[in-house]
Amino acid sequence: MNELKQVTHIDNVKLGEDKASVRILDQTQLPAKTEYLTLRTPEDLYDAIFELKVRGAPAIGICAGFGIYILARTIEARNYDDFYRRFCEYRRYLDSARPTAVNLSWALNRMERVVIEHRELEVARILELLERECMAIQHEDQEMCHAISEYGLSLLKDGDGILTHCNAGPLATSQYGTALGPLLLGKERGMEFHVFADETRPLLQGARLTSYELQKAGVDVTLICDNMASLVMKNGWVQACLVGCDRVAANGDTANKIGTSGVAILARHYRIPFYVLGPSSTIDLSRKTGEDIEIELRSPDEIKKKFYQHPMAPEEVKCYNPAFDVTDHTLITAIITERGICYPPYTESLASFG
Ligand code: MRU
Repeated sequence: MNELKQVTHIDNVKLGEDKASVRILDQTQLPAKTEYLTLRTPEDLYDAIFELKVRGAPAIGICAGFGIYILARTIEARNYDDFYRRFCEYRRYLDSARPTAVNLSWALNRMERVVIEHRELEVARILELLERECMAIQHEDQEMCHAISEYGLSLLKDGDGILTHCNAGPLATSQYGTALGPLLLGKERGMEFHVFADETRPLLQGARLTSYELQKAGVDVTLICDNMASLVMKNGWVQACLVGCDRVAANGDTANKIGTSGVAILARHYRIPFYVLGPSSTIDLSRKTGEDIEIELRSPDEIKKKFYQHPMAPEEVKCYNPAFDVTDHTLITAIITERGICYPPYTESLASFG
């Protein structure tokens, strides 16, 4: 495999051959170490999602699909009702790991539907169907990312400067990624983009993951601190912003990594198109607007201590650490999914994603 393919087709989440484990690439160790983890217990799975060892909305969904399958296989039940009750306990536990990315509950709901719709079958047969479903979730994500990349690429020109925030590359999905997909697909086709990657405080997904993936793929990437985005836009170095999404409400309001809405506001000021890219599984029509999206709050230590040798703030200082923000739909030029490019008004263009 050449370097580019190694990036676009990275093996980040996989069902173990024993069907009793999920193997993930530990994203918290990158870029220093390429370390794989074997997850077996409910706690392993919860911790991997909560601690962002596996992260990025689609990758979380894929991991949860495999996770609930391996847990379902451990259930010793006398009958269907026993099995379903235990299944729901595991399902609720995994679902509680992170609230904002809809893909987590979306994947778990898909798996639960299989159990509900086949209640008349033997548990052994239900398990076979669950295996098929979790494999399908991953396989469909690969196809979706490919289609998103094609649509995204159709909006870009060779030589464009691109700004991205957080990480929405292959590591965050199954293949290619969403926001980084068009850039990697373009690279395959001999196009050159000049990418500015926001480092993405406080967990540095841009520095640790996006710049790692793009550099490895041979894409020209320049790492900047989040507060430098305005200057590179003002300098005329950015022709489009591409970001991923964790949940898109019916009116197009989009939750994504904290700092995304600031990028969108800057892009509007400098008249730069701001594109959101994501699979249709990220669209949640049950949320009317961004106001209905729960935003995950995380530990102050991520701001004060993590990644530093010494604490960078007084021990007792108050901290506010929301992991996501909502970009207002009025700031979004288009939402790019595997089904096509949605333009405003989003209440109409997203309406068929129910
Ligand atoms: O907290 P994270 O790293 O899981 O946040 C990830 C993002 O915000 C991504 O942009 C989003 O999940 C899309 S990944 C294709």
